Amino acid sequence: MNTSIEVKDQQKYIEKVKNRNNSKLKYNILTMGCQLNENDSEKLCGMLEEMGYIKTDNQNEADLTLFNTCCVRENAEDKLFGKLGELKKLKQEKGIIIAIGGCMMQEKHITDKIKQSYPFVDIIFGTHTLHKFPEDLYKVLDKKEKLEDIIDIDGKIYEGLPIKRDSKIKASVTIMNGCNNFCTYCIVPYVRGRERSRNPKDIINEVEQLAKEGYKEITLLGQNVNSYLRVEREKNIKFEEYQGVNSFATLLREINKIDGIERIRFVSPHPKDFTDDVIDAIANYNKICKLVHLPLQAGNNNVLKNMNRKYTKEQYLKLVDKMKNKIENLTLSTDIIVGFPGETDEEFEDTLDIVKKVKFEQVYMFIYSRRIGTPGDKMANQIPEHIKHKRFNKLKLLVENQIVENNKKYVGTIQKVLVEGESKNNKELLTGRTDSNKVVIFKGNKDLIGQIIKLKIISEHKWYLKGEI
Ligand code: SAH
Ligand code: SF4
Ligand code: F3S
Repeated sequence: MNTSIEVKDQQKYIEKVKNRNNSKLKYNILTMGCQLNENDSEKLCGMLEEMGYIKTDNQNEADLTLFNTCCVRENAEDKLFGKLGELKKLKQEKGIIIAIGGCMMQEKHITDKIKQSYPFVDIIFGTHTLHKFPEDLYKVLDKKEKLEDIIDIDGKIYEGLPIKRDSKIKASVTIMNGCNNFCTYCIVPYVRGRERSRNPKDIINEVEQLAKEGYKEITLLGQNVNSYLRVEREKNIKFEEYQGVNSFATLLREINKIDGIERIRFVSPHPKDFTDDVIDAIANYNKICKLVHLPLQAGNNNVLKNMNRKYTKEQYLKLVDKMKNKIENLTLSTDIIVGFPGETDEEFEDTLDIVKKVKFEQVYMFIYSRRIGTPGDKMANQIPEHIKHKRFNKLKLLVENQIVENNKKYVGTIQKVLVEGESKNNKELLTGRTDSNKVVIFKGNKDLIGQIIKLKIISEHKWYLKGEI
């Protein structure tokens, strides 16, 4: 079936659920994982609200509870099973509907465990069947049976799903699904399928619509954004070129032209695919933020090879140098894994060495977590937990010291800040972010929310800066 017909078909189920639940029901959603998952959750919220459900943050008053899961590291599993334990009582007392979706549901050992140990869960659905949530929910409400809707083939791209966004200022736009890189530690390619890109026209239309609605910042999302449309080009899969867009760089060029959008970010690019045209786009297009997330993972060539990252320490550093030379005011953030199988203390020092050399603006640090089904899990030389933790703490100390040092450089400077709203901890203050994604707290009129303003940075506080107008 054509995807637009499938989406229309779901609209019928949306109406059916709406008519069935004549009183206003409440839903609660918990999203784990990356920004792609958050964007998927915004679509699930959109569908639920069209079905007449109202969002609540209070678990106890929800008629429907939805989990959008992640499985990139083990702690996500602990979190889900902990939550399900808590929900059992609510299910017995109130008969709430419990639905679980997302990446973790693509793992058979997990769904088996749910069916066996948590048989009260009503719906489990995977990453390729998210668009069918209205139909799944209707069937469960109507037949009062449990339902499993998981497929193991690459889902198609569904345009025009309802969406309820978290912010009115910043929006995420998924530009591609899946991943073809198969880094040996990573589960994502198995649970999200192969790389497939959205049509340029659909992306540009979505961003134009967001600009009309007053959004100022757009984040383009994908597991490997700089290979946008690459599979399609390489395999001669027909796609509709629109305004000359046939690559990530040309997509950036067209989005940069859209009036109203003031900032463009993207995550994540892969260092091996960071082509010159993308570097030039960042350097030349004024709206693209000069903070680039460049996942390193490890600094040692042997570890990088075992991780199947397809670049060396030297190539990574050379790329950073090239970017620094071409892009004015460039800042970098990264992801690092410590304790990959076989990593020695000496090899770990190479990671620290790169961190010292590059001086990242932000480092997301992870302890290696074995994922069933990945090559990394089968490697013999797994690192003992206490050594992983020791390395993690060493890296954390280095990173935190660097962040404090780096923050000092901001003090006294003038920064352009996109004002996002009231500060969570102090309603008297406003909060916003610099181009480099640093949080700045300051005193100001609420009219400024949604604008980019200039602030003088007056002090630094490790995780945020203070500014004044
Ligand atoms: N596609 C993106 C992000 C993937 S998941 C990228 O390539 O950068 C986000 C981060 O989780 C990864 O960058 C990696 O640092 C971390 N990660 C992935 N699998 C992991 C594992 N098995 N253990 C620990 N960290 C992991
Ligand atoms: Fe995972 Fe590597 Fe793909 Fe990122 S590029 S999602 S780390 S396999
Ligand atoms: Fe997690 Fe799936 Fe994202 S595994 S990191 S939510 S793609």
